[in-house]
Amino acid sequence: MPGTCVIGLQWGDEAKGKLVDILTEDHDLVVRYQGGANAGHTVVSGGQTWKLSLIPSGILRDGITCIVTGGVVLDPASVIREMDGLESRGVKIGSKLLLSDRAHVVFPWHIAEDKVLDGSVSGGEAIGTTGRGIGPCYRDKVGRSLAIRLGDLYRDDFRAKLEHIVAVKRRLLAGWQQSGPAGGTPDAAELDAAAIHRQYMAYAERLRPHVADTTAVLLDGVEAGKRLLFEGAQGALLDIDHGTFPYVTSSNSSGVGVASGSGVPGRWVDRVIGVVKAYSTRVGGGPLPTEQINAFGEHMRERGREYGTVTMRPRRCGWFDAVAARYTARLSGVDELAVMLLDVLSELKEVRICSAYTIGGKRVTQFPSHVDDLRQAEPIYETLPGWSEDLTTVRSYEALPANARAYLDRISELLGRPVTIVSVGPDREQTIFRAPSVAPRHPAPRHPLPTPAKA
Ligand code: GDP
Ligand code: IMO
Ligand code: MG
Repeated sequence: MPGTCVIGLQWGDEAKGKLVDILTEDHDLVVRYQGGANAGHTVVSGGQTWKLSLIPSGILRDGITCIVTGGVVLDPASVIREMDGLESRGVKIGSKLLLSDRAHVVFPWHIAEDKVLDGSVSGGEAIGTTGRGIGPCYRDKVGRSLAIRLGDLYRDDFRAKLEHIVAVKRRLLAGWQQSGPAGGTPDAAELDAAAIHRQYMAYAERLRPHVADTTAVLLDGVEAGKRLLFEGAQGALLDIDHGTFPYVTSSNSSGVGVASGSGVPGRWVDRVIGVVKAYSTRVGGGPLPTEQINAFGEHMRERGREYGTVTMRPRRCGWFDAVAARYTARLSGVDELAVMLLDVLSELKEVRICSAYTIGGKRVTQFPSHVDDLRQAEPIYETLPGWSEDLTTVRSYEALPANARAYLDRISELLGRPVTIVSVGPDREQTIFRAPSVAPRHPAPRHPLPTPAKA
């Protein structure tokens, strides 16, 4: 049975967590395959709110296996905190959670480096990272010689490896701290190999029952006909290769990351759902062409409760950007669209969609590849009539106000994909699924499964 993937098409926080929790009902394995504890995914159900960082948003359902693959960077302290938080609220984790032995481990020096280098790395505006050590850990993964994977914690040479890396990192951090804006960052001298070793051995013991070769688990699952749900983190415009570089995260957060991050070939992903907010938000640095730095932007922030799930930073808000979302829908091979937080746009006289930019006096509909060109982009807006009705109790597409439907239709037209899911509030129940007449482009499996060889 082929898989589904959920990809954010903007700059993150598109309400992917809400959607993944709902779709989990129809799947067997839920998979986080990139990013780390920089993600903050929210699920609201029965009056309770759950915030998930690294554990897949499927964990709240029974009869499911949640998998964190080798494409993720894993901070053991953070995962253990998350597991404890869930268990203290009655969520049984047991054997439901598997963590890849290939996942690269976040250490205290990664968090220190994130803080030291963020302000100076681009020579101008800071990236404004989440401070979770994500970029430095991925940098060490690519650099190889200073990297430790989860499986390494259980090997005899872990201590020797750690001591070598700590010695190097102390020298590097001391240098960076002298030249960078080191205020408030931990001192390099605080990196104590023996203490870190003790701490990480304790983490390793706690996580031992969950550590597995998840690539094998997933490939076995595919052959056994299990249904896979891939949960993207961040948004495609934060993709390291295809986003608004350097104001991006350090992983492939667009659809292109599914296969490399999970080890499951792309041919097994049959349904790609692109998730967008009904408007735009961004947290951290970098251009946001439709940003509204005015009373309207503040109205959206308050009405949409646009404050970071991980860092609580206020999110920057703006109109829906169809140039950007069309680019990422194509890049991610999106079949259908889920438009979230539509209720936030109620009570506006008119609503706007950016359908082109003016850059250097020219009208442009192709998303620019260089961030400086994007900075100069002036949005060209289409203005549509708004709607006054509260949408939070609407449960069918037909019951949406005609102007809200016209708004969704225009987004669909500009992005070239049907809108099959609409969200009108944070709760699981506040979700509208459209009739099968606008079902995904590929309702039937495109690739028949091979018969597994008999062992
Ligand atoms: P994610 O990172 O993509 O999972 O998104 P976040 O959880 O960071 O941010 C989405 C926020 O919007 C959360 O606070 C959700 O509870 C909330 N939310 C989700 N869907 C809706 C919706 O349709 N309407 C409103 N008003 N809020 C929503
Ligand atoms: P979810 O999964 C929104 C942003 C940070 C910063 C940039 C790099 O909840 O949608 P990093 O710590 O990854 O090196 O920061 O990326 N960022 C996110 N913004 N939602 C997220 O995740 C994000 N994860 C990272 O604000 O601008
Ligand atoms: Mg989030």
